[in-house]
Amino acid sequence: MTPPTRALPRILRGSLLRFRHDPFAHGPFSGAAEEALDIEPDGLLLIENGKIAQIGPYGVLRPTLPPDLPEDDHSGCLIGPGFIDAHVHYPQLRAVASYGEQLLTWLTRYIFPEETRFSDPAYAAEVARIFLDQLLSTGTTTAAVYCTVHPESVEAFFAESARRNTRMIAGKVLMDRNAPDALCDTAQTGYDQSRLLIDRWHGTGRQLYAVTPRFAPTSTPEQLRLAGILLDETPGLYMQTHLLETQTEEAWVRRLFPDRSGYLDVYAHAGLVRPRAIFGHGVHLSGHDRHHCHDARCAIAHCPRSNLFLGSGNFDLFAALDPGRPVRVALGSDVGAGDSLSILRVMNEAYKVAHARGNRLHPAQSYWLATTGAACALELSGVIGELAPGIEADLCVLDPAATPLSAERVSRAESWNDVLFALTMLGDDRHVRATYVAGTRAA
Ligand code: GUN
Ligand code: ZN
Repeated sequence: MTPPTRALPRILRGSLLRFRHDPFAHGPFSGAAEEALDIEPDGLLLIENGKIAQIGPYGVLRPTLPPDLPEDDHSGCLIGPGFIDAHVHYPQLRAVASYGEQLLTWLTRYIFPEETRFSDPAYAAEVARIFLDQLLSTGTTTAAVYCTVHPESVEAFFAESARRNTRMIAGKVLMDRNAPDALCDTAQTGYDQSRLLIDRWHGTGRQLYAVTPRFAPTSTPEQLRLAGILLDETPGLYMQTHLLETQTEEAWVRRLFPDRSGYLDVYAHAGLVRPRAIFGHGVHLSGHDRHHCHDARCAIAHCPRSNLFLGSGNFDLFAALDPGRPVRVALGSDVGAGDSLSILRVMNEAYKVAHARGNRLHPAQSYWLATTGAACALELSGVIGELAPGIEADLCVLDPAATPLSAERVSRAESWNDVLFALTMLGDDRHVRATYVAGTRAA
């Protein structure tokens, strides 16, 4: 594999989006969110060796830099960190928007047949390429990605990600029961195949491995136990699975694991509830579960578009983020149950789901959950997710006036928070002017 070429030094000009502090720090309605954004209206960002080297006002910094440095002028646009999608299934790209079913029947009717195709390396490579093209065009530069049970699907995904030098988290799905034979491994083959993939890909360039039991119903206790052993054997691995997405699923898990006190306890018993564990959904978390997640410093991927699409329920974001014992939360598209890869579109539904529960999700808060807060939740602070010297230059440039309607709306904007809110409600891939991966323009 040819290593990615290093980007030459480059200047970006535009309005820079940073945070002064965590906009959830003092609870939902404290005013902390209003003050959280720190915008440099005419800013300069210098990229060197794939990282952010300097950042500040254009008028101050430009005269200190060589006049012949190449410059991308994004004046009128917002430059921020690339979006982070904490939960997405690349093999479900072609099954997106499948009609009429809730979770368990949707899986058997649409998803399992499509995932069966990924035993073919050429098919997997084609979908991985299209998926990453689409993801980058929506401004997402890092994602926690489910592959299928086939090692070929993981190989194809990481190879494509490595070719593009994107920082991705991904892993082979583990399923040794309650799924079609063509999609099942065994506890031992699942362990062995994961072990080989970890050795090959975890920490190779920017790639990170996630041990990926699909969810408790499709793994035996032995498979979950071996997943915990994989995590213990290699420091820094991720773990991703689904948790408490629907009530029918929860009832099934209670029947399958009668010795455990609840769904989260099934995973805890196997040693899977820990930092760098990403639990998709958690729609039906109890107060006790939230305490457990807080203490364990694991993350929940909130996937409102998926929850609405499948009719799974409304996640209580503000209960999870209660400043008394906050749970780490990031946003996930959950394509193919989610119907868009655009994190801006996910922010739109996150606002509405919070609103339906009587909470106002401030745009600084939803933008935080999609960038800097997500990096914290995934233990990637200091690596990606913010505009600061030394951070990898994965960037998303947003044009708030990209469509006729959003242009009309922002012509009446009263503040930067208002511009950002309009973007989160009206924005999609058309509002992404450019995406940079490690300092190189990728979309
Ligand atoms: N639970 C188990 N598998 C899946 C999946 O592929 N998508 C969603 N949304 N939930 C799941
Ligand atoms: Zn999912």
